[in-house]
Amino acid sequence: MTSSRFPGGGLSSVEKASRDELEALQLSRLKWTLQHAYANVPMYKAKFDQAGVHPDDLHELADMARFPYTTKQDLRDNYPFGLFAVPMEDIVRIHASSGTTGKPTVVGYTRGDIDRWADMVARSIWAAGGRRGDKVHVSYGYGLFTGGLGAHYGAERLGCTVIPFGGGQTERQIQLIQDFRPDIIMVTPSYCLNIADEFERQGIDPRRCSLRVGIFGAEPWTNAMRKEIEERMGIDAVDIYGLSEIMGPGVAQEFVSTKDGPTIWEDSFYPEIVAADTLQPVADGAEGELVFTTLIKEALPIIRYRTRDLTRLLPGSACCMRRMEKITGRSDDMLIIRGVNVFPSQLEEQILKLSDLSPHYQLEVSRQGHMDQLAIHVEARSNEVDTEARAQAARELKHLVKTFIGVSIQVNVKDEGEVGRSQGKAQRVVDKRQSG
Ligand code: DLL
Repeated sequence: MTSSRFPGGGLSSVEKASRDELEALQLSRLKWTLQHAYANVPMYKAKFDQAGVHPDDLHELADMARFPYTTKQDLRDNYPFGLFAVPMEDIVRIHASSGTTGKPTVVGYTRGDIDRWADMVARSIWAAGGRRGDKVHVSYGYGLFTGGLGAHYGAERLGCTVIPFGGGQTERQIQLIQDFRPDIIMVTPSYCLNIADEFERQGIDPRRCSLRVGIFGAEPWTNAMRKEIEERMGIDAVDIYGLSEIMGPGVAQEFVSTKDGPTIWEDSFYPEIVAADTLQPVADGAEGELVFTTLIKEALPIIRYRTRDLTRLLPGSACCMRRMEKITGRSDDMLIIRGVNVFPSQLEEQILKLSDLSPHYQLEVSRQGHMDQLAIHVEARSNEVDTEARAQAARELKHLVKTFIGVSIQVNVKDEGEVGRSQGKAQRVVDKRQSG
């Protein structure tokens, strides 16, 4: 089969499908995706041939384990358009993620891909509690980043009124939230904290604004951060997950009714968890690296993409599709401090236990001799927190981190506004080890 067109047939209803129906759908969509990639993407033909597998070898879902992985490096090696499986004239949109080093990762979409992406995000907003007629304020960045336009098309698809603000201009964001009275905000959790701060700076209680729900993602955030945002903003805060290589936002979404980790839209994305060391699939419930195969992508079918995100698969709660545990971190964000593995999210959890500290923090790793040092720069909750209270908070944080994570750290309590702020994804770690 060489057809490059997704066969269609509509998306199965989240509420109605049984597990068996869902798995049958996954199998038929996987077959289509494998054929499509093999027939139209030279890299996949070469990879499959080298691994001695053919799309016809897929008889059941477990056979996916025989197929080779795709990595970010594969996308970079085929920069910019080498993995597209359709002619360029069928590509209606390009997005790219900047990455910290090297070339950006470029992704493309056909008209059908954009359409199905909008469906996934619409379903996500619906699961988050959004309904037709709601006003959705989008503060994810517009442009090459998938956040803004992904959220935008989904909100329109659901029948919402979109306010396409994008990131930045925080004072104006407040003004428009006050004037337009949106029901929902879609934004990174770290930038939402800046918005909350700006409300307070202007003497407005953010709990009294019109917002009902926040749909937060694009970066890791803890349940402690959820509680902080919910209390400060008086909203329900739910998690949206996604990545540009697989589509963008809307690969998985937490239901507001359960708040128990994002439900993966398994009719469109086939998830696996693989062990970090052996790269073999592990059973549901076991931790490892999240791997996705796209089921509905025409322009850029991706087979077994290694996301680097660490989580585990959990049974469905709000519907038959499985959930993933809230992402605790990426394998490449893991710090190894004197032999102890530390994720920024673990430190966030400890910081938020202390009422004199704010959730604005940054981690600095440096090396003294052969020893790695970890310092947390964190803002005091307000400048009214006096020197003695700051010293006490620093002592308590050191103690908590030593007890719960097992490393000794330095703590620097700073004034409000002294820790760098993000308008999109927060940069949590500054690694000074390479530069000496
Ligand atoms: O961040 C897509 C997105 C936009 C998701 C808006 C949600 C909301 P990328 O820039 O390609 O795409 O980055 C993808 O961000 O592999 C995770 O490491 C991280 N990430 C995304 N969502 C979450 C989340 C977008 N809810 C990378 N929790 C992913 C934790 C997340 N990490």
